[in-house]
Amino acid sequence: MRRDPLAYLGEELDSLKKQNLYRNLRILEGEQKAHTTFDHRSVVNLSSNNYLGLTTHPRLRKAALEATQAFGVGSGSVRTIAGTMSLHMELERRLAEFKKVEAVVVFQSGFTANAGTVSAILSKDDVVISDELNHASIIDGCRLSRATIKVFPHKDVGAARRIIDGLPAGQRKLLITDGVFSMDGDLGPLPALCELADNTGCIMMVDDAHASGVFGKNGRGTIDHFGMHSRVDIQVGTLSKAIGALGGYVAGNRNLIEFLYHRARPFLFSTSHPPAVAAACIAALDVLMEEPEVMERLWENTRFFKEGLARLGFDTGISESPITPVIAGDSAKANQLSDRLFEAGVFAQAIVYPTVARDRARVRTIVTATHTRDDLQYALDAFARVGRQIGLI
Ligand SMILES: Cc1ncc(COP(=O)(O)O)c(C=O)c1O
Repeated sequence: MRRDPLAYLGEELDSLKKQNLYRNLRILEGEQKAHTTFDHRSVVNLSSNNYLGLTTHPRLRKAALEATQAFGVGSGSVRTIAGTMSLHMELERRLAEFKKVEAVVVFQSGFTANAGTVSAILSKDDVVISDELNHASIIDGCRLSRATIKVFPHKDVGAARRIIDGLPAGQRKLLITDGVFSMDGDLGPLPALCELADNTGCIMMVDDAHASGVFGKNGRGTIDHFGMHSRVDIQVGTLSKAIGALGGYVAGNRNLIEFLYHRARPFLFSTSHPPAVAAACIAALDVLMEEPEVMERLWENTRFFKEGLARLGFDTGISESPITPVIAGDSAKANQLSDRLFEAGVFAQAIVYPTVARDRARVRTIVTATHTRDDLQYALDAFARVGRQIGLI
């Protein structure tokens, strides 16, 4: 009988189970919204990136349905062959206007936008200077580029400067940070990093995945929040989180975007968005511009929930955004907190090593604009009960 050449994967999985690092997928049985059903249980959902509730917004739903009726369900090709539809071009034009840049290219996801861009614009003679907590898609893009990767401690602009000072003046350098860090909810030090990039001739790139629709005027992101327009050469955003659908984009000058049309591998070698997705994203931009009260509700809810957790005595780290971690310690404790909260009707996913440091395992909460005060109070009451039961507060 043939020996299973993948048997070692089973051993790896057993090892994950022993270390409390194995997780079952929770199954969403209803819509992605603030109060919904996972694994047959009705829960307050604190685990989605659906910041503005747009996954179920009537304007997006209508746009997606109409686009499906008018254009079908798929684009049928990669962008560079037959898969560029008028809807894709309209979405790119609208995003460029929104981000106040010359041009935008849309990718299939935020992940492919980051990985595809970094790997396209750099090669082995170049250097990337990257925050240690930057997203995995940036790390993969850096690896694919074969550039030298220099990592600086989280938000330590002085350390980034020392790295750059040690590099040859003529070498091409990319300085890169997340706008909002996805596990701690803190902001990248954009003004100081932009100044560093200006003074040292670095290309400045910001991944604003968790800031799009959340920070800045009408949700233009951290670049707008910090007044850094024209100081950031490459902005990445996602259409999969606050925008409520799927995709990623790169915003910058015309040369950058045309170059990515020719060299970014996910753009060249993977099929473009279905019409429904592109149309829903366009409708989401209309909502951002015409319904600013949605973002206001997000921030009111964020303040209410953060204050509640802090009053209860939880360690919520250094968050400045609607992402609020509740630090539990090791992975066993974080899983216990998440599981007991789930039994109590609150879904807050545990985040463990290697996504975060072994001793900083946590549950991550994300408040949305569509949570009611009752939802949030219910969640705070559950956190209080469970936190006391397991000795966290
Ligand atoms: C900081 C950051 N960048 C990029 C991404 C990838 O975005 P997408 O889900 O659209 O692929 C994520 C999503 O997890 C993220 O948190």
